[in-house]
Amino acid sequence: MKNILVTGGAGYIGSHTAVELLNKGYRVTILDNLSNSRAEVLHSIEKITGKRPDFFELDLCDRNSLEHFFNTQKIDACIHFAAYKAVGESVDEPLKYYRNNLLSLINLAELMIEKKTDHLVFSSSCSVYGEQDKLPVNENSPLPKAESPYGNTKQIGEEILADTVKVNPFNVIALRYFNPAGAHESALIGEYPIQPPNNLVPVITQTAIGKRKSMTVFGSDYSTPDGTCIRDYIHVVDIAKAHVVAIERLIHKKNKNRFEVFNLGTGTGHSVMEAIHAFEKATNVKLNYTIGEKRAGDVEKVWADTELANQELGWKAALELEDIMQSAWKWELKLKEEAGVEN
Ligand code: NAD
Ligand code: WQD
Repeated sequence: MKNILVTGGAGYIGSHTAVELLNKGYRVTILDNLSNSRAEVLHSIEKITGKRPDFFELDLCDRNSLEHFFNTQKIDACIHFAAYKAVGESVDEPLKYYRNNLLSLINLAELMIEKKTDHLVFSSSCSVYGEQDKLPVNENSPLPKAESPYGNTKQIGEEILADTVKVNPFNVIALRYFNPAGAHESALIGEYPIQPPNNLVPVITQTAIGKRKSMTVFGSDYSTPDGTCIRDYIHVVDIAKAHVVAIERLIHKKNKNRFEVFNLGTGTGHSVMEAIHAFEKATNVKLNYTIGEKRAGDVEKVWADTELANQELGWKAALELEDIMQSAWKWELKLKEEAGVEN
């Protein structure tokens, strides 16, 4: 069976994707420097699938180590998740983001081309769209200047790859995720970063469990039906499954262009208040929140046009906001239980 390299595979989306790949019988090799993840996840992946992925603790920015890796391992295709992703931090430390996210991509693409491993799926983001007038956003929407250095690394990453495929035997699918959230139904893997999360769903579950006293809804006078921002929250398992479809499209040479882009969203936008209510309904837990100031740089509303992914990939998100909230809550409870056992 093909050996799929999953960079950043110890992280949130990578670990869920490793599970889906292993369940489909692929061999999985994870490469991660554990800068925002923990090695225990390998254990959890094995518990779910009965198979342990190969693991190499390695920084993709370290060209020599990466070269040694490619010289000694036979890789058939790669899904590249490894990157820093904290938008706010990227504003404060732009070079850290440009170095990590771009150098890792360049090193990887160069070595893949050198080794004639020509299938790459790249983690892009809805952050490339910024604020758009026309909703839902489709893959042809013109991209404005990125709002943050992080978003810019995704725009530049896509450009690097689009230019590269023109002159190399290299095939790439860039997947633009909207707002991934939730956890595996087993509650054995979920979002478990080293850095404290700032995204809405983990903030909700951390507040509900008492890790945070209260949470703030950032702004209530946007021009949306209830005044709060609208996003397209998509279950991480749906995202993981889309990666299997995308890598198989490349492996089986079904791609129509050497560089393809697909949105990964549900196609439905939900407001912050709707998300909070969905959490309360799914879990029967009341959330302590206050309405606060707008967060700098927040887009008012964005959700995905999923037509292209539905038609071309034959993929459609199957899970809904309540599934996201239920699974995220189950995962948060599991983390609490484990912390209790350790104390
Ligand atoms: P994550 O932080 O959980 O996972 C990323 C993993 O990459 C971590 O395990 C980290 O240790 C590793 N990593 C980072 N830099 C590395 C390097 N130089 N060498 C080796 N390993 C390195 O993040 P995630 O949420 O799983 O995101 C995965 C990808 O999806 C990222 O590229 C991110 O930008 C993108 N993305 C995420 C979201 C989201 O909301 N989670 C949305 C859109 C796009
Ligand atoms: C969602 C909504 C907040 C926290 C980010 C990145 C984007 C992509 C996805 C990587 C917003 C509101 C949040 C809180 C709140 N990631 N909120 N109180 O900002 O849409 O996108 O993650 O590529 O690039 O920018 O996601 O989860 O931070 O926020 O009211 O404590 O929840 O204002 O409207 P965002 P998010």
